Amino acid sequence: MELGGRVAIVTGAARGIGRAVAAALGAAGAGVGLVDIDAAEAERARAALAAAGVAALTCPCDVRHTDQVEGAVARTLERFGRVDVLVNNAGIIRRGSIETVTERDWTEVFDVNVTGAFRFCLAVVPVMKRQGGGAIVNVSSIAGKVGDLTSAPGYGPSKAALDALTKTLASQLAGARIRVNGVAPHAIETDMSAQWSPERRREILAGIPLGRLGTPEDVAHAVVFLVSDRAGFITGEIVDVNGGALMD
Ligand SMILES: NC(=O)c1ccc[n+]([C@@H]2O[C@H](COP(=O)([O-])OP(=O)(O)OC[C@H]3O[C@@H](n4cnc5c(N)ncnc54)[C@H](O)[C@@H]3O)[C@@H](O)[C@H]2O)c1
Repeated sequence: MELGGRVAIVTGAARGIGRAVAAALGAAGAGVGLVDIDAAEAERARAALAAAGVAALTCPCDVRHTDQVEGAVARTLERFGRVDVLVNNAGIIRRGSIETVTERDWTEVFDVNVTGAFRFCLAVVPVMKRQGGGAIVNVSSIAGKVGDLTSAPGYGPSKAALDALTKTLASQLAGARIRVNGVAPHAIETDMSAQWSPERRREILAGIPLGRLGTPEDVAHAVVFLVSDRAGFITGEIVDVNGGALMD
């Protein structure tokens, strides 16, 4: 299998895109550490993966806390002995506008979406360096490139910062054979997008040339490609997964 013998950590893996990414990495042969703040839902995801023959373990962890991040990496190493792939997917959104957003909203969104990914990179990069390489994928958003009408200011800027982190680490870690890429989804059917009003949903659909919303699996396929050897000459790239809504 393409990722046989490799080990991945996926954050926000209990549901939505992260769960689909974990399942796809597992189906490609990787062992998977499922990181999530929601321990019960992560356990349900682990049981479903195990039933499909995937070696997975849960790593209950709030990405806002360095000690918990380090604990999740240590737990994965204890079980599998290595970490080859890191997918920073955990993310939160706040709805609103500049009139309604609070500084606390801004800080929380950055703490999870940017600093959470940074914390995991800090913990995992030394492991990958010791092993002689690895692959990191940061799950961004179209909002990091073009902003967003309904998310409170903070979400789009956090994803733009994540994209800059992706490119910075791609430059700095290329010599260590660690590739760092991103995916920028748009309009994927998950709990996050379930918050849209029916009107907003129609508007979004009208802006997608491929004429449908995306699935978590659409994103997962792109992630599996980016971490595989088939993408061995790709680093510092942010891959759009958006049905053609933005062609940049
Ligand atoms: N759904 C979309 O349309 C869409 C579009 C663009 C980008 N994204 C991005 O994709 C990623 C996943 O989104 P989703 O739609 O699957 O979201 P979701 O809300 O369905 O799932 C997010 C997961 O992250 C976990 N999580 C949240 N805060 C956490 C924390 N502090 N520590 C650990 N885990 C935490 C949640 O428990 C949950 O399991 C996010 O980064 C999001 O910004 C989603």
